[in-house]
Amino acid sequence: MDKQENYVKLEFYAKDQNVAIARLAAAAFSGELGFSLSDIEEIKVAVSEGVSNAIIHGYGGDESRLVEVTLAVEKNLFKLEIKDDGVGIADIKKAMEPTYSSVAERMGLGFVFMESFMDTLNVHSSPNCGTVLLMTRRCPHS
Ligand SMILES: Nc1ncnc2c1ncn2[C@@H]1O[C@H](COP(=O)(O)OP(=O)(O)OP(=O)(O)O)[C@@H](O)[C@H]1O
Ligand SMILES: [Mg+2]
Repeated sequence: MDKQENYVKLEFYAKDQNVAIARLAAAAFSGELGFSLSDIEEIKVAVSEGVSNAIIHGYGGDESRLVEVTLAVEKNLFKLEIKDDGVGIADIKKAMEPTYSSVAERMGLGFVFMESFMDTLNVHSSPNCGTVLLMTRRCPHS
């Protein structure tokens, strides 16, 4: 196995306090990959936004539901997957528009942060079938 190859999967209740646990896990994981402290801060923001969306929008506050976060590195590519089994997104393009939110008091910037802090972001979702976010970021050259 490649020296840097690694894989971690976390599954947790859709509770606010678990956002911090997912952030710390991602920080610890990406810290091993040569990312700078500011890169790691950006990765933590991407994790927070994705996991918060799963909790708030996907599950609408039902803390008994499960969120899954997978961290992986393969061939110098850091991969982050965030999965919920919630309500799903009917119009992904619209959901990803800057400042669009289905909740009046929210800013609608979560996807903007995920897109700007990671190299790629793919969203797979449909109504009642949950949402999977796949993000990647190239590791710095060692
Ligand atoms: N996991 C999800 N399940 C269902 N809907 C989602 C999910 N993630 C995002 N959405 C939809 O996409 C919209 C845009 O998400 P985004 O994170 O950009 O903004 P927001 O969460 O509304 O506001 P902010 O992140 O700024 O607090 C949400 O308002 C919601 O309608
Ligand atoms: Mg959001």
